[in-house]
Amino acid sequence: MRYAWLRELAVPVPETLKSPLEVAAFEARQAAERLRFAVDEKMGEGYAAEKTGDGYLVTGGTTGVLYGAYALLRALRLGEEPPRGAQFPRCSLRMLNCWDNMDGTIERGYAGRSLWLEGDAFAYDPGRVRQLGRMLASVGINVLCLNNVNVHAPAQQLIGDFLPDLAAFAGILRPFGVRLMVSVDFSMPMQCGLNTADPLDSRVQAWWRERAGIVYAAVPDLAGFLVKADSEHRPGPNAYGRDHAQGANMLARTLKPFGGVLVWRAFVYNCLQDWRDRAVDRPCAAYDTYMPLDGKFDDNVILQVKNGPYDFQVREPVSPLLLGLKNTAMAVEFQLAQEYTGHQIDLYAMPPLWREVIDAVGADSLRAMAAVGNLGRDENWTGHPFAALNLFAFGLFAWDPGSDPGALIDQWTRLTYDLPEDQRKTLAGLLLDSRAVYEKYTAPLGLCWMVQPGLHYGPNPYGYEFDAWGTYNRADRNGVGIDRTAAGTGYACQYPESLARLYSDPAACPENLLLFFHRLPYGHVMPDGRTLIQRIYDDHFDGCEQAYAMARALQTLDLPEPDRSEALARMEKQVKNAENWRDVINTFFYRFSGVEDSRERKIYE
Ligand code: GCU
Repeated sequence: MRYAWLRELAVPVPETLKSPLEVAAFEARQAAERLRFAVDEKMGEGYAAEKTGDGYLVTGGTTGVLYGAYALLRALRLGEEPPRGAQFPRCSLRMLNCWDNMDGTIERGYAGRSLWLEGDAFAYDPGRVRQLGRMLASVGINVLCLNNVNVHAPAQQLIGDFLPDLAAFAGILRPFGVRLMVSVDFSMPMQCGLNTADPLDSRVQAWWRERAGIVYAAVPDLAGFLVKADSEHRPGPNAYGRDHAQGANMLARTLKPFGGVLVWRAFVYNCLQDWRDRAVDRPCAAYDTYMPLDGKFDDNVILQVKNGPYDFQVREPVSPLLLGLKNTAMAVEFQLAQEYTGHQIDLYAMPPLWREVIDAVGADSLRAMAAVGNLGRDENWTGHPFAALNLFAFGLFAWDPGSDPGALIDQWTRLTYDLPEDQRKTLAGLLLDSRAVYEKYTAPLGLCWMVQPGLHYGPNPYGYEFDAWGTYNRADRNGVGIDRTAAGTGYACQYPESLARLYSDPAACPENLLLFFHRLPYGHVMPDGRTLIQRIYDDHFDGCEQAYAMARALQTLDLPEPDRSEALARMEKQVKNAENWRDVINTFFYRFSGVEDSRERKIYE
């Protein structure tokens, strides 16, 4: 079993360790460091480290000691000063949402099958689950939602027949300070004898109250429930004419006596849209649904909002809901699983994206941070060995949303590989630039959804154009993009005034969002003097050249095996993907516009 940043700690964690303190002491012994620990329960997840004569004293809360141990071990390994003063996480819930199905598949999983489910049952190697717990704890992730938000049978029984298994699984992760969360099916009462799931029906309320009691008797420290309701055919309160505050509060009240939270996803839109209808604009949906409910959610409801208004596209503006809600506890939801961002084949390091989102939203308005997981049963956990960076960095970023993307990437490269410094810098540079490169050859200028339908890897500019998902580019012989200003769909008006003004003016709108907010003719002159069509061509050619350059740079790195071979094999596919994007998208626009490339490069007819 291989490790990324915990490489030198790659010894099995003994089953006998029963508490974070015991795990902390074990890690210190493994690393041959003199650390002593003192538990001060008041500190909760916080810790403080101080130098003593021959080592360090880590004082922390029950799980704080463990986070302190990992922070110290990281610092010592990196040759850095341990953090000064008491450290506390910025977000109290740092959650991994795993989209694992009971049959062992993972929705949008790119690293093999589920680590804990198989054949409609729990099935895992306890040693590996302990390593998972350690991996999560080492970067401060404290909640694992273990099943897909699309709750396919028999996953609803995770809070029914499978409770003994759930309890056993929770027990393995407990010493690592990781609590479980379960995705639940809003209509579950109807599978259990009731003829309704109406949240205002007293029988439904009583059913959920009883269920919560049974669940918490089995797993007393369960973090709570996660719900995808009235979204992509999932059941929800709308079927009974109830709104999402009514639905969420009903469930939240059943969890409240046990200290649980109800995480309600804001990924709600019409997925049966008519492409002919230009008035309905999917990005508007979440704001339209939830702004009227601001202030109506109970205090143990957390509304979990995807970082952008669409669906984890390569480039989206920050969700206006994250800026608009003032009286609702929120979590931002990121996606480590590289659904639209290269399937853990193409390189795509996410910290720069998170930085942009948090800079726009402000960490203070968030109670929690969640990320869709990128883990699976592959030996290296994440498919691409470098995709582990995204998990590592997410945990540290949720702990401290002020983190610098470059610093996180640097840390990961230094902890993971012993490369000569020039090579390490090359690797860190590749990772830091990887998002920009991927964006350039796939979706420059804010164009979304030109992907293969369903699969979401590789180009298909017509794939979603006449579909029901609300995902259109509207390219024709005159131009491309969607007018989302007040004169168009009005989406831009959901932003606070200064941003609305910025986005609404094509001359001021950030280039990488231009075609997200505007419909422009191919002859539109960009600030750099080039026409829009020429920029489309140039960006796709440049992005592909940059992918070639990445491949050359990767070749020069003396990475250990099998990481080297795995990374190179994936890079070969990435380069093919980049060529494919370049040629398909350029040809698509050439056929529409009839405009030649001013630099006379090869565009297929
Ligand atoms: C995307 C993704 C789905 C997923 C959904 C969600 O649409 O393609 O697989 O279920 O997001 O976040 O719920």
